[in-house]
Amino acid sequence: MFEPLSRDGLAKTAFFYTPHGKISTPNILPVINPNLATMSVSEMKRLGMEGLITNSYIIRRTDKLREKAESSGLHRLIGFDGPIMTDSGTFQSHVYSEIEYDNISTFEFQKKIGSDISTIVDIFTEPNFSWKQAKEAVLETKRRLDEITDAGKTIVAGPIQGSVYPDLRRMSAELMSTGISGYLPVGGVVPLLENYRYDALVDVIINSRLYAHPGKPLHLFGGGHPMFMGMSVLLGIDMFDSASYVKYARDDRVLMSDGSRDLSKISLLPWWSPLYGKFTVKELSDLPKEERIHELSIHNLGAIFNELNEIRERIHEQTLWQYVEGRSRSHPALYRAFRRILEYGDVLEPYEDLSKKSPFFFFDELSRNHPAIIRLRKFSDMAVRNLENQMKFLDQGDWHPGRQHSPEFLQSYSISDNAYFHRWHDIPVPVELEETFPVEQLVTTGVFEGQSAGESEENDDASDPVDRSTGGRDPYLEKARMIFRYQFGVEDPSDMFPDQCQVTHSRKTGRIRGVFLDGTLLGTVRAHDGFFTLSINGAERMMNITDRHRISVTEESAEFNRKGLNVFFKFITSADPGIIPGNEVLVTDPSGELIAVGRANVPGREMRSYSRGVAVRVRAGKDAS
Ligand code: GUN
Repeated sequence: MFEPLSRDGLAKTAFFYTPHGKISTPNILPVINPNLATMSVSEMKRLGMEGLITNSYIIRRTDKLREKAESSGLHRLIGFDGPIMTDSGTFQSHVYSEIEYDNISTFEFQKKIGSDISTIVDIFTEPNFSWKQAKEAVLETKRRLDEITDAGKTIVAGPIQGSVYPDLRRMSAELMSTGISGYLPVGGVVPLLENYRYDALVDVIINSRLYAHPGKPLHLFGGGHPMFMGMSVLLGIDMFDSASYVKYARDDRVLMSDGSRDLSKISLLPWWSPLYGKFTVKELSDLPKEERIHELSIHNLGAIFNELNEIRERIHEQTLWQYVEGRSRSHPALYRAFRRILEYGDVLEPYEDLSKKSPFFFFDELSRNHPAIIRLRKFSDMAVRNLENQMKFLDQGDWHPGRQHSPEFLQSYSISDNAYFHRWHDIPVPVELEETFPVEQLVTTGVFEGQSAGESEENDDASDPVDRSTGGRDPYLEKARMIFRYQFGVEDPSDMFPDQCQVTHSRKTGRIRGVFLDGTLLGTVRAHDGFFTLSINGAERMMNITDRHRISVTEESAEFNRKGLNVFFKFITSADPGIIPGNEVLVTDPSGELIAVGRANVPGREMRSYSRGVAVRVRAGKDAS
């Protein structure tokens, strides 16, 4: 079972529940070779290990290990009472050709010894496979998944294969998501990782992620090098495994978040290293070989957990993209991969949160393809349609984020029919969106030079209804309409906010506050991102304007949601797939009546994928006092 917690685009933090406890994701399962342990389990736990992976094939073909595993169980054999995943021997067949055990008996063995996550014997699709060869491997891997009819207590790992072919990855992701699988490793990628083919990996991961069941963790087989972890998580990877911490140690290599270094070439250990203060580089280098491998393994695993910690915090802050963008400059292969991600901006846009907690950093032309900017561009393309002579571009000097328009501008705005735009790069941005994410939150090297984003919230809450005695358009009402149109994709927002609405605004900053109709509040505009929070009356009115942005729940749930309690995933019966994470949603009961309004925690297309956790944070219920 998988419970999403926080998110940033396709990246998420979550809890994954296994028979031996839960793992917080994103996370890594260090590879333990039961024949030669470089580090003890307790040392690994001290570094932050929550689960591990070992190989059932090695255990089964080694008499002593098999006997102990069969008599006392896998957890006793390894000496770890947390989640243990076992691999099947597919990788050994990739390295050494044929293995002697078949799929069913391999799986039954993993079940018998008490593995938490057991892997089928999939077919490793090499990067140099022809399309036809890879397709056959994908179909055979699916056939083997279907051979497993009784999972018992174990979670079935069904690897996604398909070599470097996006269409086959999509097909495999879809096939492996159905049936008995509960865990989806992306396989056949080790040669790509070893050869720094990160751009090909971007294709593999995105295409797997978008077609895989979102409620099943996506694991990157062999992908535990810290250099590529941030990018993998950005593209939706939840779990990793890796033996790199030992492999690099054996070669006297020191893992860092942006690559590895030769021990002989470094002068200092990083401050976060578990070895910092214990050894100087010289002392470490002078250790006997086996001891040095042991200590370097500790450092290397520490480097991996250090990076995971950073990634998790970035998801919490919603700055993972910026982190990956910055990190991509540390190696040309990463930079090439980052550019490949930008080619998927359109595909990523529906997963992008309505707004972020943090400012938007716009560096250069590449930032134009960030999913949030693509969303703005798409809207702007639509907004300028059929306007022709009515379009007027403001002088750049006229305005910057947070600055109030002059009374002269407001006057000319109110008496004209012009559609006013800021010209920003080549995107015409409607002036009415100037306080809405990402426009105001842009921190850029360009037009808005020197402006800090997300100005602090004002404290002059006193606001007055606009005096419209002079007639003409009300700039504040027009702003409310434009924001509504952008936020909900409603073509004609005057249905929602008719002319008789009153819009309050801050006298000091000019920011709009709330929209009222006949004295009833329909919605307020949030200071931090410039989007609407709807009141229950506003939501009720929106029910007549559009049939989008809705989710429907069972009657059992409706009873609680009407009182203002949150919506849990397991009670959702249908959801608009177009819901943007972080946007307002209208919650309805089985008869289609509005019962609550709140904020979506995940995109609409994922609403029915989870069985645990909060789907909508309800703000107002129909019957809440
Ligand atoms: N370990 C690394 N790659 C793979 C893979 O494709 N399949 C399995 N089962 N294990 C792996």
